[in-house]
Amino acid sequence: MNELFSVKDRVVVITGGTGVLGACIGEYLAKQGAKVVLMGRRKEEGDRIVDKIRAEGGEAMFLVTDVMNPEVVQKNCDDIIAAYGRVDALLNAAGGNMPGATIAPTGTIFDIKVEEFQKVLNVNLTGTVIPTQIFLKPMVEAGCGAIVNFSSMAAFRPMTRVLGYAAAKAGISNFTAFLA
Ligand SMILES: NC(=O)c1ccc[n+]([C@@H]2O[C@H](COP(=O)([O-])OP(=O)(O)OC[C@H]3O[C@@H](n4cnc5c(N)ncnc54)[C@H](O)[C@@H]3O)[C@@H](O)[C@H]2O)c1
Repeated sequence: MNELFSVKDRVVVITGGTGVLGACIGEYLAKQGAKVVLMGRRKEEGDRIVDKIRAEGGEAMFLVTDVMNPEVVQKNCDDIIAAYGRVDALLNAAGGNMPGATIAPTGTIFDIKVEEFQKVLNVNLTGTVIPTQIFLKPMVEAGCGAIVNFSSMAAFRPMTRVLGYAAAKAGISNFTAFLA
């Protein structure tokens, strides 16, 4: 175990905890001794990952969430504080894309469905801002903490046709710089 950058006993909260990256990162951090809280929408999958982490000797719990709902996320935060007394790190890994917010190879800007564009902005960007606002409070009170936001290379240049996703990730990069 790397003692210099040890995460042993640190309480690490991961949104999108049942996703590809969130679950992998959670499993790895638990192996390094962190107390991992996976937050996601799919309880069955969350419980499966938590069981796997525990079977390997790690500590983890799963909480159902919706990162776009402040009341739900506040309840998640209260439950975590009740269980562990603090939050050391938040990883905002919830996100996603929708077909209507993407321009198909044969399509143009006129094919973008505004409703789906807004949904993609919301889940990625607002879904990063809300958990940050809520979990930052106990970190500020404790005088320490770390937040990792999940942006994309698409944030810096419009690499592909994922218009809504790229705009949302550009917002996340800007928000992260703002916070820093
Ligand atoms: N995988 C990559 O190559 C890659 C590259 C750049 C950025 N990212 C970003 O990293 C993050 C994780 O990516 P991933 O590959 O694990 O994606 P993923 O789709 O496997 O996981 C994202 C998770 O977010 C969850 N989610 C969606 N809406 C939610 C909501 N309202 N409340 C709570 N959870 C919600 C989904 O259920 C899913 O489990 C995403 O933000 C993604 O955009 C991924």
